[in-house]
Amino acid sequence: MNKREFVKTLGGASLGLVFSPSMLSRYMAMPHAELAQDEAFWATIRGKYKLTPEYINLENGYYSMQAEPVLEAFIGHVRSINVQASRYMRTKQPDDKLRVRTRLAKMAGVTAEELIITRNTTESLDTVINGYDWKPGDEAVMAAQDYGAMLDMFKLQARRHGIVNTVVSLPLEPQSDDEIVQLYANAITPKTRLLMVAHLVNITGHILPVRKIADMAHARGVDVMCDGAHAFGQLAFRIPELGCDYYGASLHKWLGTPLGAGILYVRQDKIAGLWPIYADESMADTDIRKLNHTGTHPVHTDLAIDDAIDFHETIGVERICFGLEQQLLLRGLCVPDEPLVRNSRLLIIIENLNQKLECPDANIQQRYHLTEREQMVIIYLMLGFTNKEIANRLNLSEYTVKEHLKRIMQKTKTTTRTGLLARMIFPAPQTEIPELLFREESFTVTGLPIANTGS
Ligand SMILES: Cc1ncc(COP(=O)(O)O)c(C=O)c1O
Repeated sequence: MNKREFVKTLGGASLGLVFSPSMLSRYMAMPHAELAQDEAFWATIRGKYKLTPEYINLENGYYSMQAEPVLEAFIGHVRSINVQASRYMRTKQPDDKLRVRTRLAKMAGVTAEELIITRNTTESLDTVINGYDWKPGDEAVMAAQDYGAMLDMFKLQARRHGIVNTVVSLPLEPQSDDEIVQLYANAITPKTRLLMVAHLVNITGHILPVRKIADMAHARGVDVMCDGAHAFGQLAFRIPELGCDYYGASLHKWLGTPLGAGILYVRQDKIAGLWPIYADESMADTDIRKLNHTGTHPVHTDLAIDDAIDFHETIGVERICFGLEQQLLLRGLCVPDEPLVRNSRLLIIIENLNQKLECPDANIQQRYHLTEREQMVIIYLMLGFTNKEIANRLNLSEYTVKEHLKRIMQKTKTTTRTGLLARMIFPAPQTEIPELLFREESFTVTGLPIANTGS
């Protein structure tokens, strides 16, 4: 593949905004697995997010912050739509929406005729649950670990139509996929019509064997609806591989779009069977757009989905989920409050077990003019190694390690190991933290800079 083709596959023009041509050609030669571990690549991506120095945000599941290029594009769309007023709606909007919808469909591996843009997973899945022509005594199967909004929607159908909901409980440590499949299978009766399954359970991170569950359910004549709130944009897959009939996801979670964007996929032959919430007599019963007649809505959000996909493709979902099998160790360490200093700090450490060590954050390396050796010392420091252990790893004397540390501290204007580690997280000067915070050094700190890649 030549450079032009590479750029095209990774999202075209936007990539150039993120990486310089020379970096681009370096990255283009790297296999996903290697690039997934390239700290400089991730540091560049990280630099595209404006993080607050006030706290470390660890919750990206509600929604992920938009990368700066996406946010800027979004603001541009808001301005442009505002200026064009209704003319935009009457002339360009339908084509724009179709273009974005088609792009999303391609990403999901389905046709545009089977996918609509919604506001979120809740709207997508509730449209399906509410759209069923339920009869009293019909049954639905779901898990206690499913998302509350959808569980509530099933409860509403029970009150309104007299359906029966069977709720299974997913084991925390299943022995095999078959155990999960069997759990759902046991809940199915001849009256079961719909089974809801999470692609990725939000409270445990468990990725469920959706394909196996769908095959089992279909063999029993049961439709399958999959909650992809946390999978779309985070895992590499195409919806048809899952074998489900309906799939809903939010794009503001792992695709990093502005708030209020989602998708609903309905398999072509299932569209006619769903009642829309909002009527649209101009749409055929088999046209998925009949489910999308929500009235006037913030169309600039739809437009920014395009920009979010550009940025997301720059990273590449394969890189985000590479090493899913890899074991991670998550540790937290409190950097305590001191008299007169209000804010305690929490160091969160994500360690890649058995990881091959790479350079630390490229920005930090450049900012402080760190040599390769100094970078290695910092990495081992971050992994919690003592001077002696670092010396052994690097084949140096303890004295030399101490000298390296002294020089690193001079360069980073820190005086303690804790302060140095904190520098790696809050690289001065924009986010300067009072030096006082880092004086205490009665414990060994391990840590890695937290990167928010929306993943
Ligand atoms: C598993 C799961 N499904 C659905 C949702 C609802 O997402 P939204 O509020 O974007 O509709 C969430 C929200 O976090 C979730 O975790």
